[in-house]
Amino acid sequence: MDARLKGDDVFGEVHIFNSAEDLAEFAAEHIVAVIREAIRQEGRASMALSGGTTPGRTYEKIAEISPGRVAWGRVHLFWGDERCVPPDDTRSNFRLAYRSLISRIPVPRGNVHRMRGELLPQEGAQDYERELRAYFGNRSLPSFDLLLLGLGADGHTASLFPGSPQISKASGWVTEARKGGVERLTLTLPVINESRSVLFIVTGPEKAKAVAGSVSSTEGTVALPASMVRPRLGSVSWFLDAASASLLGQ
Ligand code: 6PG
Repeated sequence: MDARLKGDDVFGEVHIFNSAEDLAEFAAEHIVAVIREAIRQEGRASMALSGGTTPGRTYEKIAEISPGRVAWGRVHLFWGDERCVPPDDTRSNFRLAYRSLISRIPVPRGNVHRMRGELLPQEGAQDYERELRAYFGNRSLPSFDLLLLGLGADGHTASLFPGSPQISKASGWVTEARKGGVERLTLTLPVINESRSVLFIVTGPEKAKAVAGSVSSTEGTVALPASMVRPRLGSVSWFLDAASASLLGQ
């Protein structure tokens, strides 16, 4: 089931699903369609993957449905954020994506642009900015064809946390962050908002308050970083399960 919400009080398009499994299925189809369209228009596609645990099932579904539909040799994978840990660490966002997607699809190694969490944070941020410039060129900002984002119960997205100085960082493409004693790397908000399309994938009742505050079309606030994801020219879609959407329209 896909109940769509669109209207004056919603920024972007909101899709609500009966279950996390339905959500993963629809999200995988949506992602494959966006990738195919980008390849049709540009000859290649750039997708930045989300961290956290929620997207795992969607990544598995993408691997299941993509044979014969996605020219993975033309797709470049990036990350929206990463923990500053080695790639085989159980906290690594790369590790989740590798196990649920990358190890299951014929994407060339050279197309997988990992944030190198094993470096010191400042080095890792500089290293990733170089990686982005190598792909996007020295334009003012990189523009992903598709950026996947998760949402924390506190309203954080990528590794932009409520009230953190990183949110207002207007310069630079990649910055350091810190949460719960773990150093992180994250794309900056201007880079996130330069994406051609953004897809939030959110499940669980604990996210309902943050969802309600983030999808409303009123001005965003640094207290709710996800509410500041308002692409300059691109689109935002929210794929939610019923539990995380339970406070919408109240
Ligand atoms: C991270 C993510 C972060 C995540 C949310 C939701 O590195 O943790 O980028 O923004 O998407 O915290 O995490 P869950 O999907 O695990 O709830």
